[in-house]
Amino acid sequence: MKPRNNRILFAMFAVLISASLVLTACAGAATTAAPAATAAPAATAAPAATSAVSTKGKVGIVLPTKNEPRWIQDETRFKEAFAKLGYGAEILFSEGDSAKEKANVESLISKGVNVIIITPQDGKAAAAAAEAARAAGIKVISYDRLILNTDAVDFYVTFDSNAVGAKQGQYLVDKATGAGNPLYLYAGAASDNNAFLFFEGAWKVLQPKIADGTFVIKNSSEAIALKDKATLTREEMAKIIGQITTNWDFNTAKNLAESNLTVAKATDKGNVYILAPNDGTSRSIADTFAADKDVTKYYITGQDAEKPSIQYIIDGKQSMTVLKDVRTLVGDAIGAAVAFLTGKTPAQTSTYNNGKFDVPAKPSDVITVTKDNVKQAIIDSGYYPATDFTGLP
Ligand code: BGC
Repeated sequence: MKPRNNRILFAMFAVLISASLVLTACAGAATTAAPAATAAPAATAAPAATSAVSTKGKVGIVLPTKNEPRWIQDETRFKEAFAKLGYGAEILFSEGDSAKEKANVESLISKGVNVIIITPQDGKAAAAAAEAARAAGIKVISYDRLILNTDAVDFYVTFDSNAVGAKQGQYLVDKATGAGNPLYLYAGAASDNNAFLFFEGAWKVLQPKIADGTFVIKNSSEAIALKDKATLTREEMAKIIGQITTNWDFNTAKNLAESNLTVAKATDKGNVYILAPNDGTSRSIADTFAADKDVTKYYITGQDAEKPSIQYIIDGKQSMTVLKDVRTLVGDAIGAAVAFLTGKTPAQTSTYNNGKFDVPAKPSDVITVTKDNVKQAIIDSGYYPATDFTGLP
């Protein structure tokens, strides 16, 4: 979302708030955003809303982990958005643990929230938490990752994850010339539905170039066995992901890359192409490949536009990332929450099947970022300040 649209959105919320709606800090909020002095609409709306706090709505947010800059980005953007509204919101982290996630949801239920925005740690395990919220009359918004196998999901705000994978695949295809280019595949956690969507999107683009010999897969016998199949079933993808998963973990990614390189011969290296699923794992895998004396050059993908990866791109250590503008996702999530709190239904533009039903959804566009457009896409767009980086082109 462009900053201008953001302002319009916040102005809309401010009007809503002063009229009837409250997004309030829950009691004992972990992150209570004081009304921002500079946020004019929210600051003026706050006093009128305060009196309505107890009778209107409360929103709770549950994010998966603080160990990845990606989710700190979301926390920061939620805080900024709620601060502009003049309110805090309770943001809880699940520390990569579904049991902690369930406890977080139960804590929010006991605090009387009306809407829970949740990124499931494990898509299937989160169904129980969503059902507990539903039983308490709470609206559940699945945020970025889809909660699976339950009808207790009211809305899904996300990025177009298939497009993320397709952009990663396309980047590698555009860089490859000739035949026999070594290709190393890595994926996210099998417990995350997005890992399948990313891989599916990448496979769609890479597979014809694997089938025609442009690329040769070096680290997955399951992917090699399926190389002539344009569209994979979920079970087939699960078999491949089982061999190439990073589990969204930097160390797992590093260890897997190391063991792949140990097994590979010098002739499997040279100028290599690496599908890395996100920025955190990309940095780990890139460092591992860079340290191998038989790797002369590598192209590696990523996603999330994490600050350390933007610096890696500037420094030529990571080739690309996919910008998923978290300001947009936060705006969509708050917009959906506001709709529910005011008795409306959020506007859907798509649906995603979660194994139980077609969940109404709003997916957003994503952008490829390389050294060539990093200044324009990341700095000029106001996503991060130039002062956070060194050596910007
Ligand atoms: C998100 C990515 C993130 C990954 C690991 C995915 O579900 O869409 O942005 O990098 O999880 O946390």
